[in-house]
Amino acid sequence: MCPSAEGTHRTISAAQTEALAARLAAGLRAGDVVLVGGDLGAGKTTFVRGAARALGVTDPVTSPTFTLAQRYAGRVAVAHLDLFRLDGLDEEDLGSVEEELGPHAVAFVEWPAVGRPAFAGRVRARVHLRHAGGDAREVTIAGGEDR
Ligand SMILES: Nc1ncnc2c1ncn2[C@@H]1O[C@H](COP(=O)(O)OP(=O)(O)OP(=O)(O)O)[C@@H](O)[C@H]1O
Ligand SMILES: [Mg+2]
Repeated sequence: MCPSAEGTHRTISAAQTEALAARLAAGLRAGDVVLVGGDLGAGKTTFVRGAARALGVTDPVTSPTFTLAQRYAGRVAVAHLDLFRLDGLDEEDLGSVEEELGPHAVAFVEWPAVGRPAFAGRVRARVHLRHAGGDAREVTIAGGEDR
């Protein structure tokens, strides 16, 4: 991870959150998993969009609403998972999540808590977004303990 991205930041627009995500993305490599937490509407998908753009993704990055995961082609493959709809991981779900977290992709995971068993050993960074009034957000970026 780009060391300058680590820490707690305040953004006041979606564009600023995307730019911060791009700084994080600069230090990512294939096989990395980035967990992106935060309440509804805090800006998780916005953050992933900024990171994906910086990784060379040109397709529109939207919430993987009806699927567990969305894959994008960039300079590296990018996987975008959203586990909001899962209240637990049965074996089949775990298999699907692991399939998306291949060694060739950088993976971003919204609502990651439920998927913890699938990420072991692969977490490169943890991002947490908090509403801070209006368009302001507090964005905390920490290194993952795994990689
Ligand atoms: N500082 C900011 N950072 C990020 N998003 C912001 C900011 N200010 C305003 N926004 C707006 O807040 C909304 C955040 O939506 P987004 O889909 O990224 O959130 P989310 O956390 O992924 O939501 P969900 O929990 O539904 O997955 C967007 O409409 C975005 O434009
Ligand atoms: Mg989202």
